[in-house]
Amino acid sequence: MSSASTAPVFIPASQCEVLFSEDEIRERVRAIGAQISKDYAGESIVLVGVLKGAAIFLADLARSIEVDNTFDFVAVSSYGKGKTSSGAVKLIKDLDVPIEGKHVIVVEDILDTGLTLSYLRKLMLQHKPASLKIATCLDKPERRLVPIEADYVCFSIPNRFVIGYGMDFAEKYRNVVDIRLFPEELAGK
Ligand code: IMP
Repeated sequence: MSSASTAPVFIPASQCEVLFSEDEIRERVRAIGAQISKDYAGESIVLVGVLKGAAIFLADLARSIEVDNTFDFVAVSSYGKGKTSSGAVKLIKDLDVPIEGKHVIVVEDILDTGLTLSYLRKLMLQHKPASLKIATCLDKPERRLVPIEADYVCFSIPNRFVIGYGMDFAEKYRNVVDIRLFPEELAGK
């Protein structure tokens, strides 16, 4: 390969410090699932996962929820190859099933600046759901640019770039089973 290649640096995930272990994640996802089951007892819910980052969290969360639930996915433009968002959010994949009159929970991997979830919340509300809540695996409150809070949060974290459990850097590391800190000097490139 040419030395002038601009491919992002790949370092083994094992070299990245673990922030939350598989066990810690499992425990929190189960707790959130139990809370949702309690809050929606006797109801049916639709989980709307935000691709691709929330796919793994949604898969675990759906299986931790005891009330009747179905799921769907939407996709929006993301951070691309680096960690800096342009601020522009665009819908790439819409809902497959109607959510009018349904109890909806949007499931996200990370609530960061809040731009993505503000956009999605507005979009979902146009479909007139019976109710709308937000569940996120991680929350970075320090980074918020628009006022939005999640109803269910597994972990609140400082302003650090993370990978694993569905979360990527340049589309890599989504398969890593735990959540790890990605070196800032590489994430910024
Ligand atoms: P927001 O619109 O700034 O809230 O961006 C949310 C999206 O940014 C998340 O769904 C992630 O895809 C991405 N993101 C934010 N922080 C991280 C991170 O630390 N690692 C990986 N992706 C991140």
